[in-house]
Amino acid sequence: MKEHAQFIALGLPCDQTALIAEAESFVKQFGALEEKVKKAKVIDPELLRKIIAAVKALIAFQRGVLLLLIQCKVRASIFPLFVDHITREAVHFLELLEKPLQPLSTIQEILERAAFWLRQMKEHIEFIIHLLDPSERSLITQAEALLEVFRNLLETARDLESMSESDPRFFNAAVRFIFEVNDRTNELRDFKATAHELVVLCRVLSTIPDPLLTDHVRREADKFLKELEEFKSVTNVCKSLQASQ
Ligand SMILES: [Fe+2]
Ligand SMILES: [Fe+2]
Repeated sequence: MKEHAQFIALGLPCDQTALIAEAESFVKQFGALEEKVKKAKVIDPELLRKIIAAVKALIAFQRGVLLLLIQCKVRASIFPLFVDHITREAVHFLELLEKPLQPLSTIQEILERAAFWLRQMKEHIEFIIHLLDPSERSLITQAEALLEVFRNLLETARDLESMSESDPRFFNAAVRFIFEVNDRTNELRDFKATAHELVVLCRVLSTIPDPLLTDHVRREADKFLKELEEFKSVTNVCKSLQASQ
């Protein structure tokens, strides 16, 4: 959340001083909360309440920025879809904060979560493509190939999620799909790590405003991979269930 606010501050035109100051105040606020969370042994209700309030305020701010972009009141170097993307992540985070943590148990829940992340992964590739200099042809071609893969995976996740509404006792094709998503996300993660290295070493032409951006999207791929590990252990249960029937 802190970095999302930072990206908005970096992408606004310099005459939008009030909006930039607001974005920067979110950077400070989430930075302070991050420190508190790191130091805390447990997140007490008071700290949780503060985090929830901050996330809600950030969502409102981001939606306000999105409106300004959509209605051309502000012409920024940040994509409206990017603001929508980070708002979606904030809403997802808010849901996790407000709901008691429950492991995903059904294949439908797993597919729904996979579709959420696949959409985010697909958009990361789209943002990278748009931020690369047009002369970076081989990198763009590489990213476009990955984009095609992730577009298809997202579409399949939505199809399978819809089919899982029939509540099957087992759904092995979906299990196979989760394993495929895992392999492809590993490839994407490596692509992002390489892109980050190129940005840090100044070996690529782009309008990427800060190496923080490539690092951020790589970390989100790692987060998805971590969740996929969880999904795989749950889907293994499905498989053993099937074997015993
Ligand atoms: Fe993010
Ligand atoms: Fe993201």
